[in-house]
Amino acid sequence: MSLALEIKGLTKTYATGTQALKGVSLEIPEGDFFALLGPNGAGKTTIIGITTGLVNKTAGTVSVFGHNIDTETELAKMQIGLVGQEVNFNPFEKCLNIVVNQAGYYGVPRSVAIPRATQLLKDLGLGDKMDQNAMTLSGGMKRRLMIARALVNEPRFLILDEPTAGVDVELRRGMWDYLTGLSKKGLTILLTTHYLEEAEQLAKHVAIINKGAIVEHGTMDEVLSRHSDGTQNADSKGYRGGRLEEVFLKLTSEK
Ligand SMILES: Nc1ncnc2c1ncn2[C@@H]1O[C@H](COP(=O)(O)OP(=O)(O)O)[C@@H](O)[C@H]1O
Ligand SMILES: [Mg+2]
Repeated sequence: MSLALEIKGLTKTYATGTQALKGVSLEIPEGDFFALLGPNGAGKTTIIGITTGLVNKTAGTVSVFGHNIDTETELAKMQIGLVGQEVNFNPFEKCLNIVVNQAGYYGVPRSVAIPRATQLLKDLGLGDKMDQNAMTLSGGMKRRLMIARALVNEPRFLILDEPTAGVDVELRRGMWDYLTGLSKKGLTILLTTHYLEEAEQLAKHVAIINKGAIVEHGTMDEVLSRHSDGTQNADSKGYRGGRLEEVFLKLTSEK
């Protein structure tokens, strides 16, 4: 089995003295749909930042499809498409150009990038926004533009940091459907979210992080059953809604 992401003993202490990661180990198999869950400040964005080369780690090793981020930095980065937590494109640039220019960073020629970007924007429901400045988009549209941009170099591994934060219910469902479709085509997905019920329905594996340490991980079923008291088994349709939230609160709430 090939691993999309392998993290061993990862620690991070920021210059402020905050110990954001206290020895995190994590494995994400190729093709997985992996949910990294945890309260605000748990360390999720720090893990993603280190994995994508935006944040320097203090200690530990990180490999992306077998490429060590210290020794094969560019190869590791090329595997990844990132949808960051903060909206970070130029608001005065046209949507199509934002996606096409990103492809340029990865050496994709414009003759390939333009039709690819056009298709991605159409697939994400932004077909009629391509020639508009990004600042004219709604919050949910900006998120989808970021997804198009992250996919334009055809990464094997898509990382999304709270992609549905502040997105309304209908659009959120559309985004989850889109991600599920990508997952079925074999793309490995890592995401963080506060929508636990959606994560419960969609993710194959889950890890829960609290105060810089992984407090639970495994397949969704393993994690749910480890904390099951036997009264809340999945019903005949396999619906498991609500149980992950119980597990999450049990493992992360302040006592
Ligand atoms: N650039 C930074 N400088 C100092 N502390 C930071 C920085 N970024 C994050 N932190 C701190 O590190 C911890 C983990 O943050 P973060 O990884 O953003 O958590 P999450 O994404 O789970 O909300 C928090 O205590 C946060 O305040
Ligand atoms: Mg975060």
